[in-house]
Amino acid sequence: MTVDRVAIIGGTGEEGFGLALRWARAGIAVTIGSRETERGKQAAGRVREVLADARVDGMSNQDAAASHDVIVVTVPFGGQATIYKSIAEHVREEAIVIDGTVPVSTAVGGRPTTVLGVWQGSAAQQANSLLPKSVTTMGAFHTLAAKAVGEIETPLEGDVLVCGPKKGKPVVRELVEAIESLRFVDAGSLDQARLVEPLTALLIGINRRYKTDRAGVRITGLPD
Ligand SMILES: NC(=O)c1ccc[n+]([C@@H]2O[C@H](COP(=O)([O-])OP(=O)(O)OC[C@H]3O[C@@H](n4cnc5c(N)ncnc54)[C@H](OP(=O)(O)O)[C@@H]3O)[C@@H](O)[C@H]2O)c1
Repeated sequence: MTVDRVAIIGGTGEEGFGLALRWARAGIAVTIGSRETERGKQAAGRVREVLADARVDGMSNQDAAASHDVIVVTVPFGGQATIYKSIAEHVREEAIVIDGTVPVSTAVGGRPTTVLGVWQGSAAQQANSLLPKSVTTMGAFHTLAAKAVGEIETPLEGDVLVCGPKKGKPVVRELVEAIESLRFVDAGSLDQARLVEPLTALLIGINRRYKTDRAGVRITGLPD
């Protein structure tokens, strides 16, 4: 499958908007989904202000989901379940849905909202549980700092740890490799998202200590 178009649910926010810019620059047609169609269209306009030739549009989350085979979701964890419930019946039967949600709350200083012994799942597994069984749910893009993603003249550093069924991995690989300098790393099944997602909480703390906003992750020792 060659990924020619992608919908980004939550693409009006910092993380999704940065990805929209990066993919639009790579020539991929991007649809920015929003709870309000007008907000999606305004965000698409902002992409065009940066990249005049971008193939970009804005839609409601439901319309964006219904009209794409590849969907990326970048929304706050607090609203994630509501968003999936609102799009579930619109998602195409064979769609690949890539969840980038991180279960942290900035309101509590970036600490994980998961508590050992209470909930040890992941946002990606929650997404999967809310989507039809025919849909392939993947987890990816958790450790990319939005500030760095949005600065499209600067190559991104780091790896994208990708979790989920084998069927979805070539698609996520294409999206990762469409972004200059990023590397796809196969992190295993969707279960592994419970290990990958908390890395972002770790990075938030590292950012704070090093007074930066772009700490990321690089796995060493892998063959080329
Ligand atoms: N920011 C980062 O550096 C970073 C890095 C790695 C991972 N992440 C993760 O990526 C996800 C998105 O991050 P972000 O910083 O882009 O988030 P954000 O800007 O707060 O939100 C993204 C979009 O989600 C929608 N949204 C906001 N609150 C919502 C709610 N309560 N319920 C449903 N939808 C809501 C909004 O779109 P509409 O109003 O247009 O619907 C918003 O523009 C989060 O899970 C975050 O943890 C972020």
